[in-house]
Amino acid sequence: NWKLTNYIEKTVAEIREKVGDNKVILGLSGGVDSSVAAVLIHKAIGDQLTCIFVDTGLLRKDEDKKVMDNYGEHFHMNIKLVNASERFLSKLAGVDDPEQKRKIIGNEFIHVFDEESHKIEGAKFLAQGTIYPDVIESQSVNGPSAVIKSHHNVGGLPEDMEFELLEPLRELFKDEVRKVGEELGIPHHLVYRHPFPGPGLGIRVLGAVDAEKVRILQEADDIFIEELYKNDLYEKVSQAFVVLLPVKSVGVMGDERTYEYTAVVRSANTIDFMTATWSRLPYEFLDIVSSRIINEVRGINRVAYDISSKPPATIEWE
Ligand code: XMP
Repeated sequence: NWKLTNYIEKTVAEIREKVGDNKVILGLSGGVDSSVAAVLIHKAIGDQLTCIFVDTGLLRKDEDKKVMDNYGEHFHMNIKLVNASERFLSKLAGVDDPEQKRKIIGNEFIHVFDEESHKIEGAKFLAQGTIYPDVIESQSVNGPSAVIKSHHNVGGLPEDMEFELLEPLRELFKDEVRKVGEELGIPHHLVYRHPFPGPGLGIRVLGAVDAEKVRILQEADDIFIEELYKNDLYEKVSQAFVVLLPVKSVGVMGDERTYEYTAVVRSANTIDFMTATWSRLPYEFLDIVSSRIINEVRGINRVAYDISSKPPATIEWE
């Protein structure tokens, strides 16, 4: 595709020109935008780029390992992996209000990122995977009043940082970002990942968050996502995940009575994420997911399927 190749060549040249022999840091989240930005900048300036990947402890199962394998091993990028799980979990202990949790996670992220970025000596630029819709949204006359939840995108960093911004995807729409990503050699499944909220599993473990609940949710979520891929359904839905309710119910396993948590399987179809319908996933598929979660995840004995549309529900539960 000559248009894409042209775009990439032109942007690579611009990045080289702008950066010179300075250093660049980038907060890599594993999501589509930051990953494509990272690979593109890496193509331009190689080891002058250092990515910072913060493991908040609220990511999907094995996300740290996957990011290190895909972008560290495969693309040979410099990635600083920061394990901050304990910091996040201790700040969240006992907090059950969703907005409060968002604030804590957002602030902690900024702290950790700030600390780590100062350890990289002489960095002049901060790269971000800002895309065109983000630019529009931040200029919207409706501003934050149109926002129902305080959307803390964990990539969003304070503007008083002393870095110059580098945002090579600023003019692209999401579908163009994906095409650029594939052209750069990022595997299809990574470029077509569903969006994942900044606060991560922190807002999918309902109520107070702790390490055990996060572990239970990671296991259940991993099974659901794996089955979506296996059954060729992943790209037919817009966003899919599991929510862990802080509610226990009675069940029976063998001849033992159980008293465990309830997981909710959520899948939404949407174009703009402002309105959404619940995905009409086949019963046989839901049956597989439910059986696997209950049989394989210690701590869950009941699975429910969320059949609410947005509005009046939201896609996330918090
Ligand atoms: P709701 O739940 O409001 O979600 O229907 C709409 C989309 O926004 C995502 N979302 C967030 N993303 N930080 C984010 O970066 C947040 O705090 C946040 N809350 C919701 C949600 O996953 C969905 O894609």
